[in-house]
Amino acid sequence: MILLTVMEHHSNLVPWQLLAERTGAQLRFLPVLDDGTLNLEQLSSFLTPEVKLFAFTHISNSLGTINPVAELCAKARDVGALTLVDAAQSIGHIPLDVQELDCDFLAFSGHKMCGPTGIGVLYGRAEVLDSMPPWHGGGEMIVSVTLEKSTFKKSPHRFEAGTPNVAGAIGLAAAIDYIQRIGRSAIFEHDSELAHYAAERLNELPGTRIFGPSGQRGALVGLVMEAAHPHDLTTFADQYGLAMRGGHHCNQPLMRRFGVSGTTRASFYFYNTMEEIDRMIEILQHAVRFFSPKERRSPVRPLS
Ligand SMILES: Cc1ncc(COP(=O)(O)O)c(C=O)c1O
Repeated sequence: MILLTVMEHHSNLVPWQLLAERTGAQLRFLPVLDDGTLNLEQLSSFLTPEVKLFAFTHISNSLGTINPVAELCAKARDVGALTLVDAAQSIGHIPLDVQELDCDFLAFSGHKMCGPTGIGVLYGRAEVLDSMPPWHGGGEMIVSVTLEKSTFKKSPHRFEAGTPNVAGAIGLAAAIDYIQRIGRSAIFEHDSELAHYAAERLNELPGTRIFGPSGQRGALVGLVMEAAHPHDLTTFADQYGLAMRGGHHCNQPLMRRFGVSGTTRASFYFYNTMEEIDRMIEILQHAVRFFSPKERRSPVRPLS
């Protein structure tokens, strides 16, 4: 049994579905509450001793929810389950220490933290890695090879078959140094301030639904404007130089849970400013007027 949550990115759903098809393992999904947090009251009925692995995201890429990783890992350990944390949305935004979180695995992508695409990291606890066979074969990962059989290096080397992505690793190391110099605590503080301010101001927009928790949230806000499809709103914003993202954000089950086909998402980082959020609100207020069917009959004043 593998326990996942309804807020997972497709990349933390599809591989488990493929594995389940291959092995007969079953999947279970911890529900998400209306406020965008995990239903922790139901956790004990989902996280039972049959669960071998609990894989969940640290920060939701559509809701901004920050999950209580250390608490979830401790509860998983109590029932003998391994844990995998999807840190794609947290690695560049929040202080992270795998020993403090006490997870068994943690994965992230380079391009979510100013690094190159095509490279990421899968951290694994040493004892767990040592107990695992290679998952693919090739050069570099062997101790000796005969025509019939091979023996393998210790972990983690036995998981690194073939010529590595050297250029990617150098790029990722530079990105890690860069982020460390700015400081994840400073980034988190800055991003949180922007995200709270943005959520507060977005709530002023008529006919607009804001997704995610009202308390602490990651550096993003998802919204749906009643009068406009998320892609139309994103295109409209783009006309004014505002880069938003529209669609299901690789979260189709989560979108279904909230009864929408997609959202428009604003996300923030250390280079964004409060003034940019004010400008975003100005553009979105203009969008409300533009897309409102009644208002559309009268000319919409241009925005400078
Ligand atoms: C929470 C989360 N997990 C996983 C991923 C997938 O990362 P990648 O683009 O490297 O496949 C993303 C990227 O959008 C994400 O936001």
